[in-house]
Amino acid sequence: MANKKSIFLAGILTIFISAAAQGGEEAQNPVKQEMIALRTAFVALVDALLLNKLDAVEPAFHEVHKAREATEKAIEEGKVKLPQNQKRFKEFVKMDEEFHKEIETLLGAVNKNDANKIKQTTHRMLNACIACHRIFK
Ligand code: HEC
Repeated sequence: MANKKSIFLAGILTIFISAAAQGGEEAQNPVKQEMIALRTAFVALVDALLLNKLDAVEPAFHEVHKAREATEKAIEEGKVKLPQNQKRFKEFVKMDEEFHKEIETLLGAVNKNDANKIKQTTHRMLNACIACHRIFK
């Protein structure tokens, strides 16, 4: 009886420990964190375009900027582990930099209320999401 109980407790403990380890892994994966923020921002961007509420775009990218800082630090420290094609890391960094320039272009167009440029940039961004994922995700 006592044995069964301790096996049960050990089982619970294992679940807690692996959950904690996973949490740690998440925290150490700034690219993934940035991507989660980016996805939310991109959906908000598409909504803003569909509903013609361009004011909503800029705030949507605040979290991305924050997450980006952690990614940049991790890149500098060589701590980024990509799911695929790690050996093409330099290419990843280049694509990432180009993508963030697109975000600046987007926010510039939002500032000028230039709906056409916002739309064109959004299309290019979507292409860039897919292109990068094909190689590195
Ligand atoms: C420069 C490369 C690059 C670009 C550009 C890029 N991604 Fe990613 N994305 C990645 C990589 C690498 C991963 C895998 C991260 C991991 O699991 O370690 C990823 C993962 C994701 C995920 C899955 C996150 C999860 O919970 O596992 C989502 C969602 C995502 N990206 C959305 C986007 C969107 C939306 C865009 C464009 C607006 C985009 N990404 C642009 C490289 C990129």
